[in-house]
Order: sequence, then C-alpha cells, then structure tokens
Amino acid sequence: MTQTFEDRLHTLSEASVHQHFDAFLDIDWDHPDFAVDPRDERWVLPLSDPLGRHPWYRGLSQDEQIRIGIYRQANVTKVGLQFEQILIAGLMMYANKLPNGSAEFRYATHEATEECHHTQMFQEFVNCSGQDVPGGSRFFRTVGPVLPLAARVVPYGFFYGVLAGEEPIDHMQKAILRGSGEMHPLLRRIMQIHVAEEARHIGFAHEYLKDRAPKLRRHDRLLLSMAVPVIMRWLCDEILVPSARARRDMGLPKQVVKDLYWDRPESRKVLRDLFGDVRMLAEETGMMNPVSRRVWRLLKIDGRPSRHRGEVASAAA
Ligand SMILES: [Fe+2]
Ligand SMILES: [Fe+2]
Repeated sequence: MTQTFEDRLHTLSEASVHQHFDAFLDIDWDHPDFAVDPRDERWVLPLSDPLGRHPWYRGLSQDEQIRIGIYRQANVTKVGLQFEQILIAGLMMYANKLPNGSAEFRYATHEATEECHHTQMFQEFVNCSGQDVPGGSRFFRTVGPVLPLAARVVPYGFFYGVLAGEEPIDHMQKAILRGSGEMHPLLRRIMQIHVAEEARHIGFAHEYLKDRAPKLRRHDRLLLSMAVPVIMRWLCDEILVPSARARRDMGLPKQVVKDLYWDRPESRKVLRDLFGDVRMLAEETGMMNPVSRRVWRLLKIDGRPSRHRGEVASAAA
C-alpha cells in the first residue's frame, strides 16, 4: 500500500510524541562534567571543522585555539537559534491558515514545539559558554523578523529556506559527531539531541516540497527554481561564514576567511557537499532546469545529487 502525504505526517507526528527532548529535563546543566572551563582543551576545534583544520588555526597557541574554539561553537549555536526563531514564527504563520482536521497542522505544531526546546537548549549553551556572541550578520538579524511572512505568502519558497538552514547545520553536526576528536560532553549532548529531532524536521520539509511540487503553476515553478539555489547559498553563508563582528572577535585574518569561505578547492568541496540532499530534492521537485542549473553552478553549489537522503559524500572532489 502506498503511503499518502497525510500518512507520512501522521508517522512523523507519532514519532514526535514518543521521542522528544526537553532542554531542561534531558540535559543536566549543573552536572560537573558539563561545566565549561575556558582552559579545557576539548574546546580546540576538531579537524572535521574547516577552521579547525586550517594551518593558521593549527599554528596558534593552545590558549588561542581554545578561545576561538569556544567562541566559534557558541556563535554557530546562536545563529542556529536565530534561524529556529524564524522557523517557529513561520510555522505559526503557516499553521494559522490550515483547515480543521489538517495533518499538517499537527505536525507543524510538533515541530514548532521541538524548535522552542532547541532555542532554549542553544541559548542555555551560549550562556554557559560565557561568550557574548551576536550570531548572524547584522543584515540577517535585521531582516529576520520579516522572513516568517514568507511562510504565508510563498510557503514553497519558505520550506526550501527551512532546508537551507537545517541541512548545513545537520550536515556539520553529523560530521563532528562522526569525527574521532574528543569533544566537550555538553556540546556532544546538545548535538545528539539536535540531530535526532532534526531528521524529522528535514523529513517534513522534503515531504511537503514533494507533495506540493506537482501543484505549482508553471511560471511559479520557474521563478522558484531560480530562487532555490539563491536561498540555499545565502542562508548557508549566514550560518557558516562568521559575520564581520565574529571575525573581529575571533581575530581571523582576511586571508583565512577567504580560504575557508570558499576560495580553496577543499573549501569548495565542503560547500558543494552540504547540498547533495537538496540537489536530489530539487531534481525530484522539478526545480532543476537549464536556467536554474546555471544559478546552482554560478553560486558554486552544483554537483552530483545524493542517491538517498543522508548519503555521506565521498572524499574525492
Ligand atoms: Fe532545531
Ligand atoms: Fe529543526
């Protein structure tokens, strides 16, 4: 029997009921193992982090590596949190116009609930880190409050935007968790919780976009197909590229920033690999055409689509 969109949402909703996390019940913030010590060498960025393996960073004194390491982790967490705030507000805008009996209403609300817990968990981590981090760029923080309106006006574009935020963070967190380096247990706990719930959120965005794709009007599809790579690249940069203020606070030299985002061939590969799953989805939802492919290529996020969701990219460029 083939599953309908409603069936899949029901499965996701049931999973949310039976497996979910609470920022304060499931993390013992006062546990001595979770205390953040600014001399703890486990804050040195792992090799799975592009900055962590850059020669400039590796050449710094351990104290500096730790200082930058805590700041970087706290700032990425803060951007994730700001992104989730937009998502929660957008989900409410979207749910607000759904009819009685809608399966989407229930799942969207489960997701918003989970994201609320994530924002609490992330903020608590930032507070514990002792870093007064700004999160995203000034531009992102300025336009952030109006982005949820997109969920009402162009929900299709909005849910692609959701993936633009969720995929890079999820991809990065999974790479770090898979890595061999020793990491601080508090950060590990947060990432494990996040990755577990994110799988459902990303699943929902994929299901929604696949369900709606055939219902798009021709010219809407063409416009969206060109907007999708732009949304992907913009939001990915907001999350991964340190803002001007963050660069100043960390003392990152200009050349290092250029190398990492995204001049060096190795960095280009990191960037391309982030979007394998989204390229697969773009193929499946009719978002790939000769014009949009050029946009993907111009923005340097083209490449082979994943064969299945969560496929780990090969080491070969
Ligand atoms: Fe989240
Ligand atoms: Fe999420």
